[in-house]
Amino acid sequence: MDDDMPDEVFPDLRTRHIGGWGVAQIAAGTGLAVYAMWVGILQPGFRKVPLKLQVPYIPASKGQVKNVMTLLRGRTGGLVDLGSGDGRIVLEAYQQGFSPAVGYELNPWLVQLARFHAWRAGQHGKVSYRREDLWKVDLSKCKNVTVFLAPSVLSLLKKKLQAELPDDALVVAGRFPFPDWNPCRIEGHGVDRAWAYSMQAQRQHTSQKNENFGATVNDTENELVQEKLSTLKIN
Ligand SMILES: C[S@@+](CC[C@H](N)C(=O)[O-])C[C@H]1O[C@@H](n2cnc3c(N)ncnc32)[C@H](O)[C@@H]1O
Repeated sequence: MDDDMPDEVFPDLRTRHIGGWGVAQIAAGTGLAVYAMWVGILQPGFRKVPLKLQVPYIPASKGQVKNVMTLLRGRTGGLVDLGSGDGRIVLEAYQQGFSPAVGYELNPWLVQLARFHAWRAGQHGKVSYRREDLWKVDLSKCKNVTVFLAPSVLSLLKKKLQAELPDDALVVAGRFPFPDWNPCRIEGHGVDRAWAYSMQAQRQHTSQKNENFGATVNDTENELVQEKLSTLKIN
């Protein structure tokens, strides 16, 4: 190619610089695009959810899924993933023998994406993804529960789990542990880490702790939690 060519063909590029106004326009455009994506794709379903309980969608890593499944080894029956995202945990659980395998997810786009992933994996109709608020789901018959939610949400969720799950239920948390709960097993390291909790052992531990602290504190705490949970029941 001729050395002079760029100067002749793109004379403008040599003289035009992106000034402050150009940078501001690019920044505003990018910000708007990110906001539109957040509102249109990641946020639907969350408008009525208090801000501190809005957990963004972050898919579990491969290592995290593997660790969650390792902790569920030997378990049978159904499984629910609370806040199922693109459905990867539910799909993997079904493929490893858990049935029914159900995901509850508020974001309709993610529910559709999860269904697409299930269809692509040839499991269409075998797994179930429901667009439901996890706070409204009746967990009284769930034996295996998985969660990957923010610590602030987990500290409230543990009260719901403790109130509703049967004694023989196992809860597996990915990435963040339940604050103040005693895991029966831990698998993996760093961001891939997962914690398993036996409901029966957890109940015993909690009641022992409450005995030590006295019933009055326990009653007050329960009242506060009930109050908080009732405000979370979103229409
Ligand atoms: C960190 S992501 C985890 C996704 C998936 N469980 C995984 O491990 O890949 C948390 C998910 O919970 C969903 N979520 C948050 N609050 C919810 C609620 N109240 N009811 C149902 N889903 C909820 C979010 O939309 C998000 O997809």
